[in-house]
Amino acid sequence: MRAPSPSAWRLASPPAAALLLALGACQSLPPSKPASEWTAQEARGAQVYQEKCARCHYPTSTRGLHGPGLQAITKVKAMPSGAPPTDERLTAVILHGHQIMPGTPLDDDQLRDLLAYLHTL
Ligand code: HEC
Repeated sequence: MRAPSPSAWRLASPPAAALLLALGACQSLPPSKPASEWTAQEARGAQVYQEKCARCHYPTSTRGLHGPGLQAITKVKAMPSGAPPTDERLTAVILHGHQIMPGTPLDDDQLRDLLAYLHTL
């Protein structure tokens, strides 16, 4: 059998390259830790998240709801605002809000649990 001519490869490769780029974009975020592997603290944090954050943020996607999706929020270089996702910065955003995001009053335990959960995303 004859190998495809070079021009055939040139015709075939742009869609293939686009597909690889799209797959690469999806894989560039590290996966979230599965619920089955959460520690007790992370599981408590997930509950806080459900009560206080889930109505505005998807936890396992970067797609926006009312606010940006929070998948891998502690693993990215910069959050949507451009600030690095340190625990200090996250704490300030959570407690005091940010622009149109309202602040969420939490006690120290809830805050620690929630931060632990955010690190699993
Ligand atoms: C009423 C909706 C709402 C709730 C509830 C809410 N957020 Fe947000 N959040 C937003 C919006 C809107 C933004 C984008 C604000 C901006 O930066 O302009 C945002 C931004 C953020 C950011 C990105 C900050 C940055 O610097 O880019 C983080 C992280 C975040 N929220 C976490 C949380 C967590 C954790 C909770 C739960 C304690 C929460 N949010 C609750 C609406 C909400």
